[in-house]
Amino acid sequence: MSTITFPDGFLWGGATAANQLEGAYDEGGKGLSVQDVMPRGIVGARTDAPTPDNLKLVGIDFYHRYAEDIALFAKMGFKTFRFSVAWSRIFPKGDETEPNEEGLAFYDRVLDELEKHGIEPLVTISHYETPLHLAETYDGWTDRRLIGFYENYARTLFERYGARVKYWLTFNEINSLLHAPFMSGGINTPKDELTEQQLYQAMHHELVASARATRIAREVAPNAQIGCMVLSMPVYPLSPSPADALEVMSFDHSNLVYGDVHTRGAYPGYFLRTLAEKGIELDITDEDRDDLTNTVDFVSFSYYMSVAATADPAKKVTGEGNIMGGVPNPTLEASEWGWQIDPVGLRLVLNQFWDRWQKPLFIVENGLGAKDQLVEVDGVKTVVDDYRIAYLNDHLVQVGEAIADGVEVLGYTSWGCIDLVSASTAQLSKRYGFIYVDRNDDGSGTLERFEKKSFGWYAEVIRTNGASL
Ligand code: BG6
Repeated sequence: MSTITFPDGFLWGGATAANQLEGAYDEGGKGLSVQDVMPRGIVGARTDAPTPDNLKLVGIDFYHRYAEDIALFAKMGFKTFRFSVAWSRIFPKGDETEPNEEGLAFYDRVLDELEKHGIEPLVTISHYETPLHLAETYDGWTDRRLIGFYENYARTLFERYGARVKYWLTFNEINSLLHAPFMSGGINTPKDELTEQQLYQAMHHELVASARATRIAREVAPNAQIGCMVLSMPVYPLSPSPADALEVMSFDHSNLVYGDVHTRGAYPGYFLRTLAEKGIELDITDEDRDDLTNTVDFVSFSYYMSVAATADPAKKVTGEGNIMGGVPNPTLEASEWGWQIDPVGLRLVLNQFWDRWQKPLFIVENGLGAKDQLVEVDGVKTVVDDYRIAYLNDHLVQVGEAIADGVEVLGYTSWGCIDLVSASTAQLSKRYGFIYVDRNDDGSGTLERFEKKSFGWYAEVIRTNGASL
């Protein structure tokens, strides 16, 4: 039992993304997204067309079972639920001018269900699911025209749902673009054929689009709170040498630039220096500069692990499952997928972001991907996931510490609150949920839902507003 206190109204909940749980990839007028041709996640090659081994095509069938699932979230006491709108349900190809009404109506129904249970929606506008047509025809975000398509899409969402949705995130993990260009930016050209000039230009287009969405929200949905969303990755020097500390600084800069632009409205000097040294000249118009001044209301982020940095070329070995670079930290244990577990890193990153940006923070992803075993306890099927409870408990204690440090935290949504398909490996066996879904990596399973032990644990955390941690 800790003495930690969470503020009244703290938004406890869970997080998901359309492409990882909805399924129904070709229903309701939906067009294809990049995910529909990524059967191996980011670790494998894309396919020409959807293939039956792609688990995301069916996901966990949230498209048909959302009411049952939202009722389970309500049973846990969720105050908020983070989900993304599948862009290609609303604009099947991405470049149409008129939206697909059937797609819009689906999210109306989801919002109805959330409202019924008093759960606040938290909506990601773009979560790794760019319409495939935009990837194949425009090479995704390398093309400036994507800003206009995204603007039209965001405006459509704000107009339709603006009165019902307060919290919005513009791009999921916007800082993953340079690392996973197809998944994150719909960039069809293979990564090893892309120039840095193209990648940084794509980054600029996304930053402008994000700021433009904020501008539009101010006009059409004045009650909306707009957040950016970054993948957080605290980094430690591998040794106390100044050279390693400098590595830490540049690793940090490469991620912090996104939050800096979103909160300050312009590119920081260190980033301009990086561009100059790389010989990159970005196409930035006066209108772009003006757009960028539309800064966000809050900063949201995912947190799974930390890394270390070294200047020693002999020690520069990228850790397993880490797309962002950095080296393993010898003081930390790792998950079954090699992600290093570091609860204190969450307190550090909360303090760093708060000190730097002075904007309310929202932890919109955190959790442990693990292999679960469905067992019977007193005649009830469940998973005894004490390892997940320990992980989440330790991280939430650190959130409490950061709050005690004076950091303003709006809420916490645990990633994959119901089992879903992994983004990096496209597996179902990498489970994060409080709710077990009977579906396996080979696609077999009934899709039935079962409450894990962590389900009751999280319900108690929420009921006591964190006092049970
Ligand atoms: C984040 C993504 O990177 O991490 C999610 O926003 C993703 O989409 C989550 O699912 C966990 O990663 P993975 O690869 O274990 O699913």
